[in-house]
Amino acid sequence: MGVLEGKVVLLSGTGRGIGRVAARRFAAEGAIVAGGDIDAAAAAETLRLIQADGSVPGTAGPLDVTDEDSVRAWVEGCVARFGRVDVLYNNAGAVRFADIAGQPFADWRFTLAAELDWCSWSPGRPGRSSPPPAG
Ligand SMILES: NC(=O)c1ccc[n+]([C@@H]2O[C@H](COP(=O)([O-])OP(=O)(O)OC[C@H]3O[C@@H](n4cnc5c(N)ncnc54)[C@H](O)[C@@H]3O)[C@@H](O)[C@H]2O)c1
Repeated sequence: MGVLEGKVVLLSGTGRGIGRVAARRFAAEGAIVAGGDIDAAAAAETLRLIQADGSVPGTAGPLDVTDEDSVRAWVEGCVARFGRVDVLYNNAGAVRFADIAGQPFADWRFTLAAELDWCSWSPGRPGRSSPPPAG
């Protein structure tokens, strides 16, 4: 029995990279992963990998963490399906790295928004108000 047996993990950006690895690891420990990604096909592939690992696949809801309505629907979809959220992992992000001397200000702002606003504000707001407390 895994150390996270039956826990519900809401995890953004499950399409690749750290999000995919984390989703498989959480699932291997018995958690139900309610994932999501702007790349729906990639998130679906992660579900397939979880199943191939022998773990229980959760969900891969459509998700754009820059869109408040999308985030709200994602969080509420998780609660409706699994009853609660035990773990919120704000993983999704995006960067436009460049030499700061030549970087357009819009790219600087994009990175700050993607790495700070999306992670902290967007998933957190509906997450605080919508799901009932874990237990
Ligand atoms: N890789 C590193 O060394 C490292 C180090 C420190 C922090 N981080 C942070 O960890 C997080 C994940 O890193 P990674 O290397 O796996 O990144 P990645 O770019 O490989 O994966 C990010 C995932 O988020 C998804 N995503 C992007 N925009 C989205 C949106 N608007 N809505 C929903 N999903 C969206 C992408 O499709 C992708 O699947 C990022 O926030 C990154 O900045 C990464």
